Amino acid sequence: MKRKNIILIGFMGSGKSSVGRLLSKKLNYEFLDTDEMIESLEDMTIQKIFQLHGEKFFRDLETKLLLSIKDGLKRSVLSTGGGMPICETNRKLLKNMGQVVYLRTSQNTIIDRLSGDNTRPLLKEGNLKERVERLLNDRDPYYEEGADIIIDTDNKSIDEIVKEIMNNIH
Ligand code: S3P
Repeated sequence: MKRKNIILIGFMGSGKSSVGRLLSKKLNYEFLDTDEMIESLEDMTIQKIFQLHGEKFFRDLETKLLLSIKDGLKRSVLSTGGGMPICETNRKLLKNMGQVVYLRTSQNTIIDRLSGDNTRPLLKEGNLKERVERLLNDRDPYYEEGADIIIDTDNKSIDEIVKEIMNNIH
């Protein structure tokens, strides 16, 4: 049987943090967020890390973080950065850590939620619609491959998504 952790993956704006927080309360699990953990370990915002060191450096931090928490993670909901599952090593690590839930969200919903957001370095340049379209097309296969359970989140409240996850996990 898989260890009792729930891992949330999905694109930026798919609701991983909000869903993860509520889910962890309902299950009485700890809530952890890889972006927050990296920011606190580096004592720097994600934006600053990208700005000073670039994306590759950040991706290495993501893998290092997973390696450092994988053995101790128990009864936790782990929300991950949207790019975490791009890397095969990360996908494997996540699957070993618990049940992986992909919060699948359509391009239009993501664009609605992220327009006006200026905290995501990967969406800063160029046209938001084009960036989201390209990244989502590239990444969707990795999210699907990395997931044990897929939940469609469009037009659902956080509460409904959490209920659906609880009905699907074992
Ligand atoms: C990223 C998503 C962000 C954060 C970083 C890179 C990505 O996390 O890790 O800006 O590559 O999709 P959220 O998915 O929580 O926004």
